[in-house]
Amino acid sequence: MWLLVVVVCFLVWAVGTYWYLFGKPSPFSVESVRPPGPLELDQKKRHKILKQGFRKEKVPENLDAIVIGSGIGGMTAAATLAKLGKRVLVLEQHDQAGGCCHTFTEKGFEFDIGLHYIGQLHENSLFKIVMDQITEGQVQFVELDKHFDTIVIGTGEKSRKYTIYSGKTEMEEHLKEQFPDDTKAVEEFFKIMKMSARKTHLLAALKLIPQWVALFLLKSGIANLYSSIFRLVGTNATAVADSLTSNKDLHIIFYYLFYGKSCMTILTVVNYEWFEEWKDTPVRKRGDDYLAYKMRFANNLFDWACSQYPKLRDKLVYQEVSTPLSNTHYLGRYLGAMYSAEHNLERFQAEAIARNRCDTPVKNLFISGQDVFSCGIAGALHGGLLCASTVLKHIVYIDLLMLKKKLKKKKARETAEQVKKLL
Ligand SMILES: Cc1cc2nc3c(=O)[nH]c(=O)nc-3n(C[C@H](O)[C@H](O)[C@H](O)COP(=O)(O)OP(=O)(O)OC[C@H]3O[C@@H](n4cnc5c(N)ncnc54)[C@H](O)[C@@H]3O)c2cc1C
Ligand SMILES: *[C@@H]1O[C@H](CO)[C@@H](O)[C@H](O)[C@H]1NC(C)=O
Repeated sequence: MWLLVVVVCFLVWAVGTYWYLFGKPSPFSVESVRPPGPLELDQKKRHKILKQGFRKEKVPENLDAIVIGSGIGGMTAAATLAKLGKRVLVLEQHDQAGGCCHTFTEKGFEFDIGLHYIGQLHENSLFKIVMDQITEGQVQFVELDKHFDTIVIGTGEKSRKYTIYSGKTEMEEHLKEQFPDDTKAVEEFFKIMKMSARKTHLLAALKLIPQWVALFLLKSGIANLYSSIFRLVGTNATAVADSLTSNKDLHIIFYYLFYGKSCMTILTVVNYEWFEEWKDTPVRKRGDDYLAYKMRFANNLFDWACSQYPKLRDKLVYQEVSTPLSNTHYLGRYLGAMYSAEHNLERFQAEAIARNRCDTPVKNLFISGQDVFSCGIAGALHGGLLCASTVLKHIVYIDLLMLKKKLKKKKARETAEQVKKLL
Protein backbone atom coordinates (compact mmCIF):
# COMPACT_ATOMS: atom_id res chain seq x y z
CA MET A 1 0.00 0.00 0.00
CA TRP A 2 2.67 2.53 1.06
CA LEU A 3 4.78 1.51 -1.84
CA LEU A 4 1.88 2.31 -4.15
CA VAL A 5 1.49 5.78 -2.59
CA VAL A 6 5.19 6.45 -3.05
CA VAL A 7 5.12 5.29 -6.66
CA VAL A 8 2.07 7.42 -7.44
CA CYS A 9 3.63 10.48 -5.75
CA PHE A 10 6.80 9.95 -7.73
CA LEU A 11 4.87 9.64 -10.97
CA VAL A 12 2.89 12.83 -10.28
CA TRP A 13 6.14 14.65 -9.49
CA ALA A 14 7.89 13.32 -12.60
CA VAL A 15 5.01 14.16 -14.94
CA GLY A 16 4.62 17.60 -13.30
CA THR A 17 8.32 18.35 -13.68
CA TYR A 18 8.33 17.12 -17.25
CA TRP A 19 5.36 19.30 -18.06
CA TYR A 20 6.94 22.28 -16.28
CA LEU A 21 10.18 21.92 -18.21
CA PHE A 22 9.09 20.68 -21.62
CA GLY A 23 5.31 20.72 -21.86
CA LYS A 24 4.71 24.37 -22.74
CA PRO A 25 4.81 26.01 -26.15
CA SER A 26 8.20 27.46 -27.06
CA PRO A 27 8.57 31.15 -27.98
CA PHE A 28 11.42 30.22 -30.32
CA SER A 29 11.57 28.36 -33.62
CA VAL A 30 13.90 27.80 -36.57
CA GLU A 31 11.27 29.28 -38.88
CA SER A 32 11.11 32.67 -37.16
CA VAL A 33 14.53 33.62 -38.51
CA ARG A 34 14.58 35.04 -42.03
CA PRO A 35 17.42 36.39 -44.17
CA PRO A 36 18.32 39.99 -43.27
CA GLY A 37 16.42 42.65 -45.18
CA PRO A 38 18.11 45.75 -46.66
CA LEU A 39 19.72 48.14 -44.18
CA GLU A 40 17.43 51.12 -43.54
CA LEU A 41 19.47 54.33 -43.69
CA ASP A 42 16.62 56.78 -44.15
CA GLN A 43 16.50 58.65 -40.83
CA LYS A 44 12.85 59.57 -41.26
CA LYS A 45 11.82 55.95 -41.71
CA ARG A 46 13.97 54.89 -38.77
CA HIS A 47 12.49 57.56 -36.53
CA LYS A 48 8.99 56.43 -37.39
CA ILE A 49 9.76 53.15 -35.63
CA LEU A 50 12.21 54.29 -32.98
CA LYS A 51 10.74 57.63 -31.95
CA GLN A 52 7.07 56.97 -31.34
CA GLY A 53 5.78 59.61 -28.97
CA PHE A 54 3.46 58.52 -26.17
CA ARG A 55 -0.24 59.22 -26.33
CA LYS A 56 -2.79 57.67 -24.03
CA GLU A 57 -5.10 56.86 -26.93
CA LYS A 58 -2.39 54.76 -28.54
CA VAL A 59 -2.21 52.31 -25.63
CA PRO A 60 -3.95 49.09 -26.71
CA GLU A 61 -6.50 47.42 -24.49
CA ASN A 62 -6.12 44.16 -22.60
CA LEU A 63 -2.37 44.31 -22.16
CA ASP A 64 -0.64 41.31 -20.64
CA ALA A 65 2.61 43.07 -19.79
CA ILE A 66 4.13 46.54 -19.64
CA VAL A 67 7.89 46.74 -20.05
CA ILE A 68 9.49 49.88 -18.65
CA GLY A 69 12.65 50.75 -20.58
CA SER A 70 13.59 49.72 -24.09
CA GLY A 71 17.19 48.58 -23.62
CA ILE A 72 18.32 45.15 -24.77
CA GLY A 73 17.12 43.69 -21.44
CA GLY A 74 13.58 45.06 -21.66
CA MET A 75 13.39 44.33 -25.39
CA THR A 76 14.51 40.72 -24.93
CA ALA A 77 11.83 40.16 -22.30
CA ALA A 78 9.23 41.96 -24.43
CA ALA A 79 10.09 40.04 -27.61
CA THR A 80 10.03 36.68 -25.82
CA LEU A 81 6.62 37.39 -24.30
CA ALA A 82 5.26 38.72 -27.59
CA LYS A 83 6.42 35.61 -29.41
CA LEU A 84 4.09 33.62 -27.18
CA GLY A 85 1.20 35.83 -28.19
CA LYS A 86 1.26 38.09 -25.12
CA ARG A 87 0.21 41.70 -25.66
CA VAL A 88 3.16 43.81 -24.57
CA LEU A 89 3.59 47.58 -24.25
CA VAL A 90 7.16 48.95 -24.07
CA LEU A 91 7.54 52.39 -22.50
CA GLU A 92 10.68 54.51 -22.76
CA GLN A 93 11.58 57.75 -20.95
CA HIS A 94 13.98 58.96 -23.67
CA ASP A 95 12.62 60.28 -26.99
CA GLN A 96 13.79 57.13 -28.78
CA ALA A 97 13.96 53.40 -28.16
CA GLY A 98 17.09 51.34 -27.56
CA GLY A 99 18.64 52.28 -24.22
CA CYS A 100 22.39 51.71 -24.45
CA CYS A 101 21.83 50.27 -27.93
CA HIS A 102 20.43 53.47 -29.43
CA THR A 103 22.43 55.72 -31.73
CA PHE A 104 22.16 59.45 -32.32
CA THR A 105 23.26 61.69 -35.15
CA GLU A 106 24.93 65.06 -34.73
CA LYS A 107 26.32 67.13 -37.62
CA GLY A 108 26.01 64.13 -39.90
CA PHE A 109 27.97 61.76 -37.65
CA GLU A 110 26.32 58.75 -36.12
CA PHE A 111 27.37 58.04 -32.54
CA ASP A 112 26.81 54.71 -30.85
CA ILE A 113 26.32 54.46 -27.10
CA GLY A 114 26.92 51.16 -25.43
CA LEU A 115 27.67 48.60 -28.10
CA HIS A 116 31.17 48.63 -29.47
CA TYR A 117 32.03 45.01 -29.52
CA ILE A 118 30.82 41.73 -28.12
CA GLY A 119 32.05 38.17 -28.21
CA GLN A 120 30.43 34.75 -28.49
CA LEU A 121 28.57 35.48 -31.70
CA HIS A 122 29.85 32.48 -33.66
CA GLU A 123 27.36 30.29 -35.52
CA ASN A 124 25.00 28.40 -33.21
CA SER A 125 26.35 29.90 -30.00
CA LEU A 126 23.54 30.39 -27.50
CA PHE A 127 24.01 34.16 -27.65
CA LYS A 128 23.79 34.23 -31.46
CA ILE A 129 20.69 32.06 -31.39
CA VAL A 130 18.94 34.40 -28.94
CA MET A 131 19.98 37.47 -30.94
CA ASP A 132 18.59 35.89 -34.11
CA GLN A 133 15.39 34.85 -32.37
CA ILE A 134 14.52 38.21 -30.83
CA THR A 135 15.41 40.14 -34.01
CA GLU A 136 14.14 37.46 -36.42
CA GLY A 137 17.62 37.38 -37.91
CA GLN A 138 17.59 41.06 -38.88
CA VAL A 139 20.62 42.26 -36.89
CA GLN A 140 23.89 41.60 -38.62
CA PHE A 141 27.30 41.77 -36.98
CA VAL A 142 30.65 42.47 -38.59
CA GLU A 143 33.52 40.30 -37.46
CA LEU A 144 36.51 42.20 -36.10
CA ASP A 145 40.07 41.66 -37.30
CA LYS A 146 42.02 38.92 -35.58
CA HIS A 147 44.10 41.68 -33.94
CA PHE A 148 41.16 43.49 -32.38
CA ASP A 149 42.71 45.45 -29.58
CA THR A 150 45.89 47.23 -28.53
CA ILE A 151 46.75 48.12 -24.98
CA VAL A 152 49.20 50.94 -24.32
CA ILE A 153 50.58 51.27 -20.81
CA GLY A 154 52.56 54.33 -19.73
CA THR A 155 53.59 57.36 -21.75
CA GLY A 156 56.63 58.64 -23.62
CA GLU A 157 59.69 56.49 -24.09
CA LYS A 158 58.69 54.14 -21.31
CA SER A 159 55.36 53.23 -22.90
CA ARG A 160 54.69 49.55 -23.70
CA LYS A 161 52.32 48.33 -26.35
CA TYR A 162 50.55 44.96 -26.27
CA THR A 163 48.29 43.49 -28.91
CA ILE A 164 45.24 41.31 -28.27
CA TYR A 165 44.06 38.64 -30.69
CA SER A 166 40.63 37.04 -30.80
CA GLY A 167 39.99 33.31 -30.72
CA LYS A 168 39.82 30.72 -27.98
CA THR A 169 43.44 29.57 -28.33
CA GLU A 170 44.95 32.47 -30.27
CA MET A 171 44.25 35.01 -27.53
CA GLU A 172 46.09 32.91 -24.97
CA GLU A 173 48.98 31.92 -27.26
CA HIS A 174 49.53 35.49 -28.41
CA LEU A 175 49.66 36.77 -24.83
CA LYS A 176 52.16 34.07 -23.93
CA GLU A 177 54.41 35.24 -26.76
CA GLN A 178 54.33 38.74 -25.33
CA PHE A 179 54.96 37.55 -21.77
CA PRO A 180 57.44 34.70 -22.18
CA ASP A 181 58.39 34.77 -18.48
CA ASP A 182 54.78 34.48 -17.38
CA THR A 183 53.37 31.70 -19.53
CA LYS A 184 52.23 29.78 -16.43
CA ALA A 185 50.27 32.79 -15.16
CA VAL A 186 48.61 33.33 -18.55
CA GLU A 187 47.71 29.64 -18.77
CA GLU A 188 46.21 29.68 -15.29
CA PHE A 189 44.27 32.88 -16.03
CA PHE A 190 42.74 31.42 -19.17
CA LYS A 191 41.89 28.22 -17.37
CA ILE A 192 39.88 30.25 -14.86
CA MET A 193 38.27 32.33 -17.62
CA LYS A 194 37.25 29.30 -19.67
CA MET A 195 35.87 27.46 -16.68
CA SER A 196 33.90 30.56 -15.67
CA ALA A 197 32.46 30.99 -19.16
CA ARG A 198 31.42 27.33 -19.26
CA LYS A 199 29.71 27.46 -15.88
CA THR A 200 28.00 30.87 -15.96
CA HIS A 201 24.67 29.19 -16.64
CA LEU A 202 24.79 27.80 -13.10
CA LEU A 203 24.57 31.37 -11.83
CA ALA A 204 21.51 32.00 -13.98
CA ALA A 205 20.04 28.79 -12.57
CA LEU A 206 20.31 30.27 -9.05
CA LYS A 207 17.65 32.78 -10.10
CA LEU A 208 15.34 30.20 -11.68
CA ILE A 209 15.13 27.47 -9.05
CA PRO A 210 13.12 28.24 -5.89
CA GLN A 211 15.07 30.71 -3.79
CA TRP A 212 15.07 28.53 -0.67
CA VAL A 213 16.63 25.68 -2.66
CA ALA A 214 19.30 28.03 -4.05
CA LEU A 215 20.16 29.38 -0.61
CA PHE A 216 20.19 25.90 0.90
CA LEU A 217 22.61 24.64 -1.77
CA LEU A 218 24.89 27.62 -1.23
CA LYS A 219 24.81 27.77 2.57
CA SER A 220 25.25 24.04 3.02
CA GLY A 221 28.30 24.08 0.76
CA ILE A 222 26.75 21.57 -1.65
CA ALA A 223 26.95 24.13 -4.48
CA ASN A 224 30.69 24.58 -3.89
CA LEU A 225 31.22 20.83 -4.06
CA TYR A 226 29.45 20.82 -7.40
CA SER A 227 31.38 23.68 -9.04
CA SER A 228 33.95 26.30 -8.07
CA ILE A 229 32.05 28.96 -10.04
CA PHE A 230 29.96 29.82 -6.96
CA ARG A 231 33.10 30.79 -5.06
CA LEU A 232 34.93 32.30 -8.04
CA VAL A 233 32.13 34.67 -9.01
CA GLY A 234 32.51 36.58 -5.77
CA THR A 235 36.29 36.59 -5.87
CA ASN A 236 38.31 39.78 -6.08
CA ALA A 237 39.85 39.90 -9.58
CA THR A 238 42.75 42.03 -8.36
CA ALA A 239 43.57 39.44 -5.74
CA VAL A 240 43.45 36.64 -8.33
CA ALA A 241 45.74 38.54 -10.69
CA ASP A 242 48.11 39.23 -7.76
CA SER A 243 48.23 35.56 -6.92
CA LEU A 244 49.12 34.59 -10.50
CA THR A 245 51.97 36.99 -11.24
CA SER A 246 53.75 40.08 -10.00
CA ASN A 247 54.03 41.51 -13.51
CA LYS A 248 52.12 44.83 -13.33
CA ASP A 249 51.55 45.04 -17.09
CA LEU A 250 49.98 41.62 -17.12
CA HIS A 251 47.75 42.68 -14.21
CA ILE A 252 46.45 45.56 -16.31
CA ILE A 253 45.82 43.28 -19.26
CA PHE A 254 43.98 40.80 -17.04
CA TYR A 255 41.45 43.43 -16.03
CA TYR A 256 41.45 46.16 -18.61
CA LEU A 257 38.34 47.74 -19.99
CA PHE A 258 38.05 47.70 -23.71
CA TYR A 259 36.36 50.05 -26.12
CA GLY A 260 36.68 50.85 -29.89
CA LYS A 261 34.64 51.09 -33.46
CA SER A 262 32.12 53.91 -36.13
CA CYS A 263 33.36 56.97 -34.21
CA MET A 264 36.32 57.05 -31.89
CA THR A 265 35.24 56.66 -28.29
CA ILE A 266 37.38 57.69 -25.36
CA LEU A 267 36.24 56.75 -21.90
CA THR A 268 37.45 57.61 -18.44
CA VAL A 269 36.15 57.21 -14.92
CA VAL A 270 34.82 60.28 -13.10
CA ASN A 271 32.90 61.07 -9.91
CA TYR A 272 29.27 62.09 -10.10
CA GLU A 273 29.95 64.78 -7.49
CA TRP A 274 32.26 66.65 -9.88
CA PHE A 275 29.25 67.40 -12.08
CA GLU A 276 26.52 67.49 -9.47
CA GLU A 277 26.17 71.30 -9.27
CA TRP A 278 24.65 71.29 -12.78
CA LYS A 279 22.21 68.45 -12.15
CA ASP A 280 19.12 70.68 -12.16
CA THR A 281 20.04 72.63 -15.29
CA PRO A 282 18.18 71.70 -18.50
CA VAL A 283 19.92 69.33 -20.87
CA ARG A 284 21.84 71.07 -23.70
CA LYS A 285 21.36 74.37 -21.85
CA ARG A 286 23.47 73.71 -18.79
CA GLY A 287 25.51 76.88 -19.28
CA ASP A 288 28.96 77.94 -20.52
CA ASP A 289 30.72 77.03 -17.29
CA TYR A 290 29.50 73.42 -17.59
CA LEU A 291 30.54 73.30 -21.22
CA ALA A 292 34.01 74.67 -20.44
CA TYR A 293 34.37 72.26 -17.52
CA LYS A 294 33.48 69.14 -19.48
CA MET A 295 35.63 70.26 -22.43
CA ARG A 296 38.64 70.33 -20.10
CA PHE A 297 38.19 66.58 -19.62
CA ALA A 298 37.63 66.04 -23.33
CA ASN A 299 40.69 68.02 -24.39
CA ASN A 300 42.93 66.25 -21.91
CA LEU A 301 41.72 62.86 -23.06
CA PHE A 302 42.14 63.79 -26.70
CA ASP A 303 45.69 65.03 -26.05
CA TRP A 304 46.43 61.73 -24.40
CA ALA A 305 45.01 59.79 -27.35
CA CYS A 306 47.10 61.92 -29.74
CA SER A 307 50.24 61.13 -27.78
CA GLN A 308 49.65 57.49 -28.80
CA TYR A 309 48.21 58.16 -32.25
CA PRO A 310 49.65 61.52 -33.41
CA LYS A 311 47.94 61.41 -36.80
CA LEU A 312 44.61 61.86 -35.04
CA ARG A 313 45.37 65.48 -34.20
CA ASP A 314 44.26 67.09 -37.46
CA LYS A 315 41.57 64.49 -38.17
CA LEU A 316 39.25 65.81 -35.49
CA VAL A 317 36.09 67.15 -37.14
CA TYR A 318 33.52 66.96 -34.40
CA GLN A 319 33.33 65.80 -30.82
CA GLU A 320 30.55 65.10 -28.34
CA VAL A 321 31.22 64.95 -24.64
CA SER A 322 28.93 63.18 -22.23
CA THR A 323 29.10 63.20 -18.45
CA PRO A 324 27.28 61.34 -15.67
CA LEU A 325 24.50 63.92 -16.11
CA SER A 326 24.03 62.68 -19.71
CA ASN A 327 23.71 59.11 -18.42
CA THR A 328 21.05 60.24 -16.00
CA HIS A 329 19.12 62.19 -18.62
CA TYR A 330 19.26 59.83 -21.58
CA LEU A 331 19.43 56.46 -19.83
CA GLY A 332 17.58 57.19 -16.60
CA ARG A 333 20.62 56.24 -14.53
CA TYR A 334 20.80 56.82 -10.80
CA LEU A 335 23.67 59.24 -10.05
CA GLY A 336 24.92 58.94 -13.63
CA ALA A 337 26.20 55.38 -13.28
CA MET A 338 27.41 53.85 -16.53
CA TYR A 339 26.20 50.34 -15.72
CA SER A 340 23.19 51.10 -13.56
CA ALA A 341 23.36 49.18 -10.24
CA GLU A 342 26.93 49.07 -8.97
CA HIS A 343 29.03 46.14 -10.12
CA ASN A 344 30.89 45.65 -6.88
CA LEU A 345 32.19 42.52 -5.20
CA GLU A 346 29.23 42.18 -2.79
CA ARG A 347 26.77 42.04 -5.65
CA PHE A 348 28.54 39.05 -7.16
CA GLN A 349 28.67 36.85 -4.08
CA ALA A 350 26.76 33.68 -5.02
CA GLU A 351 24.24 34.29 -2.25
CA ALA A 352 23.56 37.82 -3.45
CA ILE A 353 23.09 36.42 -6.96
CA ALA A 354 20.53 33.94 -5.65
CA ARG A 355 18.69 36.73 -3.80
CA ASN A 356 18.74 39.30 -6.62
CA ARG A 357 16.01 37.78 -8.77
CA CYS A 358 13.55 38.92 -11.38
CA ASP A 359 10.54 38.70 -9.09
CA THR A 360 10.18 41.32 -6.38
CA PRO A 361 8.14 41.70 -3.20
CA VAL A 362 5.73 43.79 -5.27
CA LYS A 363 3.25 41.46 -6.94
CA ASN A 364 3.58 41.41 -10.75
CA LEU A 365 6.63 43.69 -10.74
CA PHE A 366 9.67 42.04 -12.30
CA ILE A 367 13.24 43.17 -12.96
CA SER A 368 15.17 42.59 -16.16
CA GLY A 369 18.36 43.72 -17.90
CA GLN A 370 21.81 44.35 -16.51
CA ASP A 371 20.56 44.94 -12.96
CA VAL A 372 19.41 41.38 -12.53
CA PHE A 373 22.35 39.55 -14.14
CA SER A 374 25.38 41.51 -15.28
CA CYS A 375 26.36 44.47 -17.43
CA GLY A 376 27.20 44.14 -21.12
CA ILE A 377 24.88 43.41 -24.01
CA ALA A 378 25.04 39.67 -23.29
CA GLY A 379 24.56 40.17 -19.54
CA ALA A 380 21.52 42.40 -20.03
CA LEU A 381 20.07 40.07 -22.64
CA HIS A 382 20.24 37.18 -20.19
CA GLY A 383 18.55 39.46 -17.67
CA GLY A 384 15.72 39.71 -20.21
CA LEU A 385 15.54 35.94 -20.70
CA LEU A 386 15.52 35.31 -16.96
CA CYS A 387 12.76 37.88 -16.59
CA ALA A 388 10.65 36.29 -19.35
CA SER A 389 11.19 32.86 -17.75
CA THR A 390 10.05 34.18 -14.37
CA VAL A 391 6.99 35.94 -15.77
CA LEU A 392 5.96 32.94 -17.89
CA LYS A 393 6.84 30.42 -15.15
CA HIS A 394 8.57 28.60 -17.97
CA ILE A 395 12.34 28.26 -18.34
CA VAL A 396 12.86 29.50 -21.89
CA TYR A 397 16.51 28.37 -21.74
CA ILE A 398 15.29 24.82 -22.24
CA ASP A 399 13.60 25.88 -25.49
CA LEU A 400 16.83 27.59 -26.53
CA LEU A 401 18.94 24.52 -25.81
CA MET A 402 16.56 22.34 -27.80
CA LEU A 403 16.64 24.85 -30.66
CA LYS A 404 20.43 24.85 -30.49
CA LYS A 405 20.46 21.08 -30.84
CA LYS A 406 18.15 21.29 -33.84
CA LEU A 407 20.28 23.95 -35.53
CA LYS A 408 23.45 21.96 -34.96
CA LYS A 409 21.85 18.88 -36.49
CA LYS A 410 20.66 20.96 -39.45
CA LYS A 411 24.18 22.34 -39.92
CA ALA A 412 25.70 18.85 -39.77
CA ARG A 413 23.20 17.63 -42.39
CA GLU A 414 24.00 20.56 -44.68
CA THR A 415 27.73 19.99 -44.35
CA ALA A 416 27.31 16.30 -45.11
CA GLU A 417 25.29 17.12 -48.23
CA GLN A 418 27.94 19.57 -49.40
CA VAL A 419 30.67 17.02 -48.92
CA LYS A 420 28.61 14.46 -50.84
CA LYS A 421 28.20 16.91 -53.73
CA LEU A 422 31.95 17.59 -53.82
CA LEU A 423 32.69 13.91 -54.01
C1 LIG B 1 29.62 53.94 -23.02
C2 LIG B 1 29.25 52.49 -22.92
C3 LIG B 1 29.92 51.54 -23.68
C4 LIG B 1 29.56 50.20 -23.61
N1 LIG B 1 30.19 49.29 -24.44
C5 LIG B 1 29.80 47.99 -24.44
C6 LIG B 1 30.36 47.06 -25.36
O1 LIG B 1 31.23 47.40 -26.19
N2 LIG B 1 29.96 45.76 -25.29
C7 LIG B 1 29.01 45.34 -24.40
O2 LIG B 1 28.69 44.14 -24.39
N3 LIG B 1 28.45 46.21 -23.52
C8 LIG B 1 28.82 47.52 -23.53
N4 LIG B 1 28.23 48.41 -22.65
C9 LIG B 1 27.25 47.92 -21.68
C10 LIG B 1 25.89 47.60 -22.31
O3 LIG B 1 25.58 48.55 -23.28
C11 LIG B 1 24.82 47.63 -21.22
O4 LIG B 1 25.23 46.85 -20.12
C12 LIG B 1 23.45 47.07 -21.71
O5 LIG B 1 23.13 47.55 -22.99
C13 LIG B 1 22.37 47.44 -20.71
O6 LIG B 1 21.10 47.03 -21.19
P1 LIG B 1 19.80 47.22 -20.29
O7 LIG B 1 18.65 46.86 -21.13
O8 LIG B 1 19.95 46.54 -18.99
O9 LIG B 1 19.78 48.78 -19.91
P2 LIG B 1 19.65 50.07 -20.85
O10 LIG B 1 20.14 49.82 -22.23
O11 LIG B 1 20.22 51.22 -20.12
O12 LIG B 1 18.07 50.27 -20.97
C14 LIG B 1 17.30 50.81 -19.94
C15 LIG B 1 16.26 51.71 -20.58
O13 LIG B 1 15.28 52.05 -19.60
C16 LIG B 1 14.94 53.41 -19.78
N5 LIG B 1 14.36 53.88 -18.53
C17 LIG B 1 14.97 54.02 -17.33
N6 LIG B 1 14.10 54.46 -16.41
C18 LIG B 1 12.90 54.57 -17.04
C19 LIG B 1 11.61 54.97 -16.61
N7 LIG B 1 11.39 55.35 -15.35
N8 LIG B 1 10.61 54.98 -17.51
C20 LIG B 1 10.83 54.59 -18.80
N9 LIG B 1 12.03 54.20 -19.24
C21 LIG B 1 13.06 54.19 -18.37
C22 LIG B 1 16.22 54.08 -20.15
O14 LIG B 1 16.02 55.34 -20.77
C23 LIG B 1 16.83 53.03 -21.09
O15 LIG B 1 16.40 53.23 -22.41
C24 LIG B 1 28.55 49.78 -22.72
C25 LIG B 1 27.87 50.73 -21.94
C26 LIG B 1 28.20 52.08 -22.04
C27 LIG B 1 27.43 53.07 -21.23
C1 LIG C 1 40.84 43.26 -3.82
O1 LIG C 1 42.15 42.82 -3.63
C2 LIG C 1 43.12 43.86 -3.60
C3 LIG C 1 44.51 43.21 -3.60
O2 LIG C 1 44.55 42.03 -2.88
C4 LIG C 1 42.85 44.76 -2.40
O3 LIG C 1 43.80 45.80 -2.37
C5 LIG C 1 41.44 45.33 -2.54
O4 LIG C 1 41.12 46.09 -1.39
C6 LIG C 1 40.41 44.21 -2.69
N1 LIG C 1 39.12 44.81 -2.99
C7 LIG C 1 37.99 44.41 -2.42
C8 LIG C 1 36.76 45.14 -2.84
O5 LIG C 1 37.94 43.53 -1.59
